[in-house]
Amino acid sequence: MPRLSVWMVRFSLIYLGIGMTIGGMMLWNKGIFISVDLWRLLPYHIELMLFGWVMQLVMGVAFWIVPRYTTPPRYGKTHRAWIAFAMFNIGLWLVLIQHTWLILVGRVLMLLAVVLFVVYLFPRLKPYGE
Ligand code: HEM
Repeated sequence: MPRLSVWMVRFSLIYLGIGMTIGGMMLWNKGIFISVDLWRLLPYHIELMLFGWVMQLVMGVAFWIVPRYTTPPRYGKTHRAWIAFAMFNIGLWLVLIQHTWLILVGRVLMLLAVVLFVVYLFPRLKPYGE
């Protein structure tokens, strides 16, 4: 498994752990009421699960399994994918701070990260033998 995939999958699993814990707390709160304030955690749960966990797992596995080039460097311009990884996570943390304009900055960073990742990955998409 390439190093970037290791880091992406590690990060996604950490987010899954935190997101599941938050989800479990909200679920508990539905059955055995603790505090109405626990519902404030819903945006964190959604953010961590959809972007931190699912999206980052997809990107990490895609970096790993999409065909490599036949000549070195076999993974292509990997610095682009590393920058995308950094931007995506910084963007996610900014969104998690839940401050009005930081959410906007974070979202833009995440969007640019995904665009950069797609730009990096697209040329690797080729049928076998080409
Ligand atoms: C251990 C796993 C999980 C637990 C215990 C859990 C728990 C919860 C709870 C209690 C809610 C609030 C539901 C309500 O409005 O009454 C919720 C909402 C939500 N969860 Fe999870 N969840 C889990 C996994 C996931 C996963 C894997 C995803 C995404 C892939 C996810 C995405 C969402 C979304 C998008 C909402 C908002 C739904 C809405 O407002 O209609 N959750 N979750």
